Amino acid sequence: MPKGAYFRESERALLAVLAFRFGPGGLFVWEDTSMAEKMTVPQIVKMKQRGEKITCLTAYDYSFARIIDEAGVDILLVGDSLGCVIQGQKNTLPVTIDEMIYHTRAVVRGRERALVVGDMPFLSYQASKEQAVQNAGKFLQEAGAEGVKLEGGVAMQKTIAKIVEVGIPVMGHVGLTPQSVHRFGGYKIQGKGKEQREIVLRDALAVEEAGAFAIVLEGMPAELAKEITARLTIPTIGIGAGAHCDGQVLVIHDMLGLFDDFTPKFVKRYANVKVVMTSAVKNFISEVREQKFPGAEHSFN
Ligand code: KIV
Repeated sequence: MPKGAYFRESERALLAVLAFRFGPGGLFVWEDTSMAEKMTVPQIVKMKQRGEKITCLTAYDYSFARIIDEAGVDILLVGDSLGCVIQGQKNTLPVTIDEMIYHTRAVVRGRERALVVGDMPFLSYQASKEQAVQNAGKFLQEAGAEGVKLEGGVAMQKTIAKIVEVGIPVMGHVGLTPQSVHRFGGYKIQGKGKEQREIVLRDALAVEEAGAFAIVLEGMPAELAKEITARLTIPTIGIGAGAHCDGQVLVIHDMLGLFDDFTPKFVKRYANVKVVMTSAVKNFISEVREQKFPGAEHSFN
């Protein structure tokens, strides 16, 4: 299928048929189906209103972005999780704004339909609102992203509001926020117990009030995420936050079985690509050593 064509001709015809529905007064009207459309911030917000689940996966380069986008995911998140799965760091703290911009550019080149959101790394938005606006702007201006994500609730409310004010869509992130790993004393579930639950709830409400278009709920009891999802009008995207969120996000290397340094309980492995890759590499090694590769078909005359 050529790049940019989401559906084959036969599928388009079927979609066209399905897109006719009875409108007011019993007339047939053409209803736009969002399936083939470019995902935008308003589209993502509408998905919650329509009760449609939102899918989000991380991507860090062109080839992965292209595959994930063509498969039909709604949001490509260029997560600072790249610190762990791409750079091999112990946590996300060493990731810099320049590295995030570099990876976001590559992802933008690979996608056609999904919304691309760039993750603001540690210390790229906490020092001042001005710093936050400048760095958030880089994701749109230098990398072509359509929004940014940043961690924090009440403490980041004014910062989010300022970024939104200049026209940059913001996705919030509350609960187990990995950039606060040292404050939490590890990757610990947040929002357990009455007091902690109130803190996370207030954080989520602050993010919505600040004007964010969506919010990641990470590492919290499913019942708390359910309550937040019911109270907010913006979509909640869960990771380790149960089934009641408006959408789900996973780190692509985790769900493909490419990264096994540690596997959190909330990760589902949809494939074991490491096994496939290891076998392919081993085949290559043996064939080169046994002089089976390259064959005549891979050689020039
Ligand atoms: O950095 C990241 O990939 C994230 C998601 C897991 C939400 O923040």
